Amino acid sequence: MITIIDGKKTSEEIKSEIATRVKEIVDAGGKKPHLAAVLVGNDGASQTYVGAKVKACDQVGFDSTLVRLEETISEEELLTVVEDINQNPAIDGLIVQLPLPKHISVEKVTNKIKPEKDVDGFTPANVGRMTLGWPAYVAATPYGIVELLKRYQIETSGKHCVVIGRSHIVGSPMSILMARNEYPGNCTVTLTHSRTKNLPEIAKTADILIVALGKPEFVTADMVKEGAVVIDVGIHRVDDSSKKSGFRLIGDVKFDEVSQKASAITPVPGGVGPMTIASLLFNTLLAAEGKVYGN
Ligand code: GUN
Repeated sequence: MITIIDGKKTSEEIKSEIATRVKEIVDAGGKKPHLAAVLVGNDGASQTYVGAKVKACDQVGFDSTLVRLEETISEEELLTVVEDINQNPAIDGLIVQLPLPKHISVEKVTNKIKPEKDVDGFTPANVGRMTLGWPAYVAATPYGIVELLKRYQIETSGKHCVVIGRSHIVGSPMSILMARNEYPGNCTVTLTHSRTKNLPEIAKTADILIVALGKPEFVTADMVKEGAVVIDVGIHRVDDSSKKSGFRLIGDVKFDEVSQKASAITPVPGGVGPMTIASLLFNTLLAAEGKVYGN
């Protein structure tokens, strides 16, 4: 029997656990965790993501501040906005939604974020700490995947984990987390990417296959071993006139055929996606409680 790894349900459970903790903090006379989100410009997808993050804050009892800035803001002005939030003791967590306009350096802005407030886990300090296995804010998508593996009690020790895609946000940190000497982890990890030779053959040797390359339905059944655990990070809109919205969502994995072979699989939508916001909220709670860097 195949297990459908339900990220929607799991994310609701995590949000409910966070809401319970917030209530305890507030009942004890503490302040609500507070997330600030900076959104530059009018990119449609970014507006949707940030809107969902702010709404989720409300759902668990966090305070949130949305800072909306013009597409034309200068890099220097944006750096000043980030620094002001860094210095604001009322705010526990800070995210700058990516992508940024081309005239602004993502590296400079990311590096300006105080590591203690970097609940996206994008700063060199947090990437380095995560890599060393120190307490760190781990980026939302990899963290969400680790949490799904844990809550579905997927065995990882000694398994061959193949990661497809080497992005800074997903593939690269995922490969590090799956190789860590703890659960989930202890995998033998192969990180594959656009220059990898024989990718289908390598994918087929995976006990755990994590797909984050951003190509619709790239992974087909012939690339998957019987009984593999398949985690699909992709999300793509395709036209579908049978839907009221006119589109449907698909992943990087051809779900209908791969689910005939896998022992467990994340669907799209409702798999990894909803977990990313739960991870961001969890990191913000950690920040408010000083659990990573101390208070
Ligand atoms: N853009 C795409 N994913 C993310 C994310 O996790 N955080 C931020 N800040 N921007 C993103």
